[in-house]
Amino acid sequence: MRKKQEMNVIGEFTSDFGHYKIIETEDKSKTLFSGHYDEACHSLTGAVEETIHNYVLGCEVPSRLKNFTPFNILEVGFGLGIGVITTIDYLIDNNLNTPLHFVSLEIDQALIEWSKDNLSFKSKSFKLWENLKLEQIDDLKYYQGTFNNVTLTVLIGDARRTLPLALDKKVIPEFHAIYQDAFSPKKNPTLWTVEWFKDLKKVAHDDVILSTYSASSSVKKSLVEASWKIEKASGFGPKRSSTKGRLVGEMSEEVKLNLSRSPITPVFDSDL
Ligand SMILES: C[S@@+](CC[C@H](N)C(=O)[O-])C[C@H]1O[C@@H](n2cnc3c(N)ncnc32)[C@H](O)[C@@H]1O
Repeated sequence: MRKKQEMNVIGEFTSDFGHYKIIETEDKSKTLFSGHYDEACHSLTGAVEETIHNYVLGCEVPSRLKNFTPFNILEVGFGLGIGVITTIDYLIDNNLNTPLHFVSLEIDQALIEWSKDNLSFKSKSFKLWENLKLEQIDDLKYYQGTFNNVTLTVLIGDARRTLPLALDKKVIPEFHAIYQDAFSPKKNPTLWTVEWFKDLKKVAHDDVILSTYSASSSVKKSLVEASWKIEKASGFGPKRSSTKGRLVGEMSEEVKLNLSRSPITPVFDSDL
């Protein structure tokens, strides 16, 4: 996923889940290097710039916001909250004040507390973070808070369990944008299988755009096997391309040809 670049380590902390190094990226925004997954959460070229490129613009949020009220975003992997903070700040900076529900999935609860204490107070959405409360319905734990017209929900636990559970318990809406931002398929394989992409399809609005930094053939094949129509998009930093998925429309002849020529097969849960 993330090409080997020099890391500028500016701090560290440990949670019950693992050890984290705090890294300053080239655009001066921070990311975390997870000892548990042995990978950084963002490109070292720039955490905020990568988020704007791959997700805010990758999912065409600014131009599609007005089509839905509220506009619902799902992020796979809360990390240190850069996806949430960058999206909300970007919309505020561009006077895009449409109601928004942002849902994020995170296995390590300590990261939400870390982000509240260390990052969110510098963002334009700090009041939202002050309003975040831990809620529980049966065995589904999540943080939720609202400020002005933005609601943030972070489901705590393994996303393979929490996403279907939250759908069942009607805690989440249908999503218009999906930020597929797990660690790499090699390090975080359960969040890249055909079954996972089918789960994402179940929570998606027909007019959804899924965007991911990954351009790997196995990810593309797995998305297509789960009935996503994929297209190639531009990559961020040293990466040449990224991938987008939709549920409607047709794939280009070029994408179909490339897929048919590749000997790589889709990855199912049973392959892990
Ligand atoms: C690449 S980082 C996400 C970065 C984040 N989008 C941001 O902007 O700060 C991936 C995140 O996914 C989380 N994660 C990995 N496996 C998970 C799982 N099975 N369920 C929920 N979260 C998971 C990791 O703990 C990590 O925080």
